[in-house]
Amino acid sequence: MKTGLTRRNFVGSTAAAAFAGSIAAVAPARAASPGGASLKILGISCSPRQGMTTARAVQAALEAAKTVDPRIGVELIDLGGLRFSGYSPTPPTDDFSAILPKLQDPAVAGLVIGSPSYFRGLSALCKAFIERCAPLREPKMLLDGKPVGVIATGAFRNGGQELVIEQIQVAMLCFGMLPVGGRPPAFEGGTVVSTKDSIENDELGLTTARNTGLRVADLAVRLAR
Ligand SMILES: Cc1cc2nc3c(=O)[nH]c(=O)nc-3n(C[C@H](O)[C@H](O)[C@H](O)COP(=O)(O)O)c2cc1C
Repeated sequence: MKTGLTRRNFVGSTAAAAFAGSIAAVAPARAASPGGASLKILGISCSPRQGMTTARAVQAALEAAKTVDPRIGVELIDLGGLRFSGYSPTPPTDDFSAILPKLQDPAVAGLVIGSPSYFRGLSALCKAFIERCAPLREPKMLLDGKPVGVIATGAFRNGGQELVIEQIQVAMLCFGMLPVGGRPPAFEGGTVVSTKDSIENDELGLTTARNTGLRVADLAVRLAR
């Protein structure tokens, strides 16, 4: 929990932010207080295909997140092409070793996680990623009280994107994270349709991705007050 934020304030502010999300406007950008901590929003693309539609949708969310407050910095972690497996009692040395420190950075103020819909479920890569995040729970809940927005891509409208979003949101509850949707029409998160590996014509889907990024950033800024 952030310094200076009482439990009561925390519950009140996060409940207002998370559950009134569908009607509340995104707060206007606030000037950075001198010496104020930077707020890092990490985007995680969980498609095995590097730089493809999921990565681009997450990037769109991060670009939107950046506009909320000058203190916000963003970074895309594209898992495409990386080699790591799911949880193991003895964590292997693999490509996840380079990712873990980025997630452990105390400046991390929120996450945007993107996954393709694979047979109406999250990708195996996304599942492996979440399992390997176990060190972020123990010995300390490092992501506790931080917002997470989720984006799912699929080749079809109604291709399981909302199911994917819910699977990831539920998993991130185990880390104490606060799942957020976005301003309408991003009720649950980003729901993006890729057509021939392009999302550029899915204006509605890109709007949901951007609105999800805005919501994550908005809540991160509110919690930092
Ligand atoms: C194994 C597999 C299963 C898929 N299942 C679905 C699905 O259930 N629903 C859907 O809309 N798209 C499905 N797709 C399409 C992908 O979700 C879609 O192409 C997505 O945009 C890929 O993300 P990427 O471009 O980041 O790799 C599937 C693709 C693969 C390879």
